Amino acid sequence: MKKATKFSSALLALTLGLTACSSGQDTGTKETTDKKDDAKKSEEVVKIVYARGKDATKATEEIVKAFEAKYPNIDVEFREMPSDTGAQHDAYVTMLNAKSSEIDVMDLDVIWPAEFAQAGYVLPLDRFIEKDGIDLSAYNQGALAAGNFDGKQWAMPKFIDTGLLFYRKDIVPEDKVPKTWDELLTAAREFKGQGGTQFGYLMQAKQYEGLVCNAIEFIAAYGGKIVDENNNVVVNSPETIKGLKKMVEIATSDVVPSNITTFTEPESHTAFIEGQSSFIRNWPYQYALANDPEQSKIVDKVGVAPLPAGDKGSAAALGGWMTAINAYSKNKEAAWEFVKFMTGPEGQKISAIYGGLAPTLPELFKDEEVLKANPFFAEQGFVDGLNAAVPRPVVPNYPEVSEIIQINVSKAIAGQITVEEAVANMEKEIKAVMQ
Ligand code: GLC
Repeated sequence: MKKATKFSSALLALTLGLTACSSGQDTGTKETTDKKDDAKKSEEVVKIVYARGKDATKATEEIVKAFEAKYPNIDVEFREMPSDTGAQHDAYVTMLNAKSSEIDVMDLDVIWPAEFAQAGYVLPLDRFIEKDGIDLSAYNQGALAAGNFDGKQWAMPKFIDTGLLFYRKDIVPEDKVPKTWDELLTAAREFKGQGGTQFGYLMQAKQYEGLVCNAIEFIAAYGGKIVDENNNVVVNSPETIKGLKKMVEIATSDVVPSNITTFTEPESHTAFIEGQSSFIRNWPYQYALANDPEQSKIVDKVGVAPLPAGDKGSAAALGGWMTAINAYSKNKEAAWEFVKFMTGPEGQKISAIYGGLAPTLPELFKDEEVLKANPFFAEQGFVDGLNAAVPRPVVPNYPEVSEIIQINVSKAIAGQITVEEAVANMEKEIKAVMQ
């Protein structure tokens, strides 16, 4: 993106613990044997299993490759989990409830660390952080805070997500990039069908966590909130109703695929890189994916802009992922080396270049290679937008709150209830689970 102004108006040791165990009986022979054992042990390869959702980009593969080259005695096996964050959450909960040690390292959605810490599923990382002198002040403090619970750090921030509008710059002229949700609907109608597209707009409207993110963006753009700063439930407001009505209007319009209520991130990004739509709402990784010649039919044809505004302005949901260690892991030291590498400058740089992921280490926004891969990271408005992104309610039983939002918003999109009814239900039901 060439215009630096695009966003400005819109917001925004391996200690493979293989230390010698000296018995204290240091006879010459024993020493020799110990030394031999140590040499053998240091050649031993420890295998750790790293779990995360399907990575549509090459980032995970490249991180593992770089890590294994640097740490030849740690072998990382990748375990692919469901890409739907809710399904992934449930798979971990099942595994960790059974105290399983089958995975060592896992990525956590920013909405989970408190729950996982409280349940004892993940290891506090403070002793590792201290031992290796990790400078936590180098991290985006909001992203870091998402992994902090009860005064301890349970997960390290890997990347920040924020909703963005991607558009086909070969179809949509700069001055037609919509600034409001009403303009989006008009532009999506105008450009639907052009340049071989079938759709005007793609979003995530299936009943799952991504629907909550899309809904929060509409709600906040029109000045509404689900809970306030003190966790009072304030969802039943004219602002929230107006925002959700706009969402329903778009999700039921002729600009989106008729089966949009089956779309999560993979369905929407696939249709977009296949060249089927003029616009899409997605997370930053969309850019790297759209420019991957092995997968995309729209290389070099994608522009990025802030999400359209409502009455209050443009609002983007705050997302992102962190990395944690399974409390039942049998290879905790090796697991930490991988966490440290992946969430440190080297790993985050690979994530940014190959995965289009926004770093939680702000210094990387100045890195030339990172900027070459993601030109929009250079815009102050993008960085400001990341800092201003709207979090989901921060409550210990977030999964229950999320389910209530998912069900009611889905029913409103399906026309089974009105938006007013959806909002009244949410108020009553969220209050009940937050008591
Ligand atoms: C992205 C976000 C995550 C969010 C999910 C919803 O992965 O990083 O925070 O919950 O999308 O689908």
